[in-house]
Amino acid sequence: MSGVLDLVREDLRGFAGYASARSAKIEGEVWLNANESAWANPGDAAATCRRYPEPQPQALRERLAQLYGCTSGQLLIGRGSDEAIDLLVRALCVPGRDAVLYTPPVFGMYAVSARLQNAATLEVPLRDEEAGLVPDIEAIIATARQGNARLVFLCSPSNPGGLGIPLAQVEQVATALRGQALVVVDEAYAEFADEPSAVSLLPRHDNIAVLRTLSKAHALAAARIGCVIADAALIAVLRRCQAPYPIPSPCSALAMDGLDEAALARTRERVALVRAERERLRAALAELPGVRRVYASDANFLLVRFVDAETAFQRLLAAGVVVRDQRAAAQLHDALRITLGTPEQNARVLGVLATLEPAA
Ligand SMILES: Cc1ncc(COP(=O)(O)O)c(C=O)c1O
Repeated sequence: MSGVLDLVREDLRGFAGYASARSAKIEGEVWLNANESAWANPGDAAATCRRYPEPQPQALRERLAQLYGCTSGQLLIGRGSDEAIDLLVRALCVPGRDAVLYTPPVFGMYAVSARLQNAATLEVPLRDEEAGLVPDIEAIIATARQGNARLVFLCSPSNPGGLGIPLAQVEQVATALRGQALVVVDEAYAEFADEPSAVSLLPRHDNIAVLRTLSKAHALAAARIGCVIADAALIAVLRRCQAPYPIPSPCSALAMDGLDEAALARTRERVALVRAERERLRAALAELPGVRRVYASDANFLLVRFVDAETAFQRLLAAGVVVRDQRAAAQLHDALRITLGTPEQNARVLGVLATLEPAA
């Protein structure tokens, strides 16, 4: 048995999941086995939706595997990385016994999925240092060991902190927690960073899983395509815990189009533009009297502390610009998170924030 399967809930190890009509490996011309309609819906001009979709569209699985540098067997497509987070928590954490560790301030779905599973939560706050908000690796390892963590979420680059985590640190956590926890590296914003993907660590560490998504750099948030990349045995378990037909055909078709060579080339250009804008806006914001601190970012947003965050938020709103209010998040009582937009939109943000007064 592969080591990582020891991390799966004992009661799910022999679980076969739902045997859908699409999963049976049989051939035929006339398909009358899934109670589908014999006719396309009048609104379905391309007649692509009459039948249930492939549970894991193979062409898309292979395309994503090629893009992320793994095999298709190591990759499971889900409804955004949100679904992958939920599946991991459900498949690995015994309710009331196992814990989920994460590093606030951080993306909220780790805590939400843990709560839904009645898994305890262990919070190891990011440390606010000169470089930015960084994970406390020693504390993560110690807390995971003491608190029975089954899953450790490392968000890299971190949302909303902005910084990526060096692979050596990810590896340190995975090595220390081998046999105890799966280290999940959430790379939703990896396209905007320099750090290579933690997928490269998989051959040496079967207790690492990586989350990727088409929602950010690839501009397909509404298609809800994300994936988890991990040991093939774990992927098979997760698939058995997933809904029978999670990937709608129009979404997988759109994803295939969005990942062809021409689309990828445009996406890369846009990522380069966002990165250039990020540095330009960061420097310009740091000069403003109403701004306390702009954090370095490896992602497509900037985390900004203000002298008066309420006024900054309201002035932006009055100018029609909606940013993310972070003031309720741990350590961020004076901060807003600003997603990079087009150069024109970024100029508008800067123009509004330039009107802020310095500290009294
Ligand atoms: C760090 C992080 N992970 C995952 C997600 C969820 O993305 P998806 O659209 O793939 O579900 C987000 C969305 O904001 C995010 O910030």
